[in-house]
Amino acid sequence: SGPEAAALVASRVVDVPDFPKPGILFKDLMPLFSDGEVFRQVIDEIVAYHGPDSFDVVAGVEARGFVVAAAIAYATGKGVVPVRKAGKLPRRTHSVSYALEYGEATLEVHEDAFAAGERVLVVDDVLATGGTALAALELVERAGGAVAGFTVLMELSFLDGRARLAPRTVHALLTV
Ligand code: PRP
Repeated sequence: SGPEAAALVASRVVDVPDFPKPGILFKDLMPLFSDGEVFRQVIDEIVAYHGPDSFDVVAGVEARGFVVAAAIAYATGKGVVPVRKAGKLPRRTHSVSYALEYGEATLEVHEDAFAAGERVLVVDDVLATGGTALAALELVERAGGAVAGFTVLMELSFLDGRARLAPRTVHALLTV
């Protein structure tokens, strides 16, 4: 994706110091989601990058990834699969625990979320340390999905999430 998409995302990021913990500079993308014109352009940009023929379903990571995933899925006529925090999904799940930039967390996906070999585009709003992304990608694979791509709106490169995901790759509209 080009400099225009990056500038678009950059224009709608609000830095929030000391959230959710002291010392964390939180990147709030809510202003991007709430601007209809910008939100549409950002979703269109992701769909243009990952052609709609390259994936069968979209997986979104709780919670802000849900917003992105649902929009991409609707725009391309695909379905959405939620990758959720522990204890939220009602049926049998696969589960992966991971260290977060702030604290620890567990992600889950339904065991029957994907048909065998189904191509899954995985999305989230921000890639920071990569712990969340790695857990989500492992879950998709464990549930029988084939990762067709992983996209975030913004990547915080100084936290080295991209290296942690290797050899898996990540597409970011904006890298800071
Ligand atoms: C944020 C963000 C990513 C994750 C990135 O989610 O939306 O999912 O952190 O961090 P990492 O690369 O260091 O793992 P958060 O944990 O705040 O959850 P929420 O969207 O449910 O609020």
